[in-house]
Amino acid sequence: MTPQHPERHRSWTGFCLAIVVALVGAAGGSSRAHANPTGATPAAHALDAYPPMPAGAGVVASPAARAAAAALSRGINFGNMLESPREGDWGLRADDAFVELVGGTAGFTQAVRLPVRWSNHASADAQAHIDPVFMARVESVVNKLLARGVTVVLNMHHYRQLEGNPLDPNEKAVPAEVVQPRFFAMWKQIAERFSGAPPRLLFELYNEPHGAMEPLWNDFASRALRVVRASNPTRVVVIGPHTWNSASALPKLVLPADPNLVLTVHNYEPFTFTHQGAEWVNPRLPVGVDCCDAAQLAKMREMFDLAVSESRRFGYPVFVGEFGAYEKAPLAARVRYLRAFRQMAEERALPWMYWELASGFGLYDPAARRFRPALKDALFGPR
Ligand code: BGC
Repeated sequence: MTPQHPERHRSWTGFCLAIVVALVGAAGGSSRAHANPTGATPAAHALDAYPPMPAGAGVVASPAARAAAAALSRGINFGNMLESPREGDWGLRADDAFVELVGGTAGFTQAVRLPVRWSNHASADAQAHIDPVFMARVESVVNKLLARGVTVVLNMHHYRQLEGNPLDPNEKAVPAEVVQPRFFAMWKQIAERFSGAPPRLLFELYNEPHGAMEPLWNDFASRALRVVRASNPTRVVVIGPHTWNSASALPKLVLPADPNLVLTVHNYEPFTFTHQGAEWVNPRLPVGVDCCDAAQLAKMREMFDLAVSESRRFGYPVFVGEFGAYEKAPLAARVRYLRAFRQMAEERALPWMYWELASGFGLYDPAARRFRPALKDALFGPR
């Protein structure tokens, strides 16, 4: 069964507009007036407890950061599990049956990105106390993955109020004035809880910052990194650009001075192909779109080339943290897309993590308990 999640939104027009703005901005043109992110006017001192890091010039990636990025190699997202409003709401749980597909000697991959919606499991005040049951649940999944030798990217996903988006069903609102400080308070707890984990655990500060987060992002990433560094002085931390982690926004990303960083981008180009029929894209994109003609390949390549050149400019490695084609696209075209994607990534030595394991983009059919061979082979079979 395909989990339905009509409540999720990725506004196609908004996405295009944001890309245009990012490109114009990168070219030196734009200044954009941004609405107040949370609808509130947080007191100027609300974030004083979370000062930013010094800005970074001349700091480049450590060997540990380079090794961590390389270890991601060819990975998978455990999507629609722990980042749904409550685990199970989108039809999947982070079950042992999924964990057992990865790592060890027989696993199809050795790298997992674990999206987590912390914000719906934390108190509605500025301290954002994370529910101990939920914290223990996430920790148990992380520990099982780590015990199988997997490299894990643990992130924060879908903090809707911080994005300025409507809440999903089963989410509770928090007062506007605590929306921003909660982001840092949650990172403090997550970082402290996992501070003893092996270096194979990476933190990713936020999935696809966009909307209200866009004007805040460089500052927020810097403050959040400082929070993390208090308990995890050298853990590798993943940071992507705003505009849904589009490579086109990398020129606007300002990184703190820290050698243990890795960059991430998401590449869903050609979007009208990969997201055809997706219920959370508004307006819904027509189905029946094929892949991959010369123009579509050029679009994919453009994002890869930008990611590579920006990665060199920054001096940090980059990986593609999400890509994929939704199940409404014709299967043969999805396979062609995956093969083309993989070839482009591998030609540039870019690690990637497919979105996702067992839901609407899924490589794996959870009802039949087996992989969809054509999709899995396109990514993990011989090239
Ligand atoms: C979002 C998912 C979405 C996927 C593809 C992810 O970043 O978290 O909800 O299905 O992108 O659009």
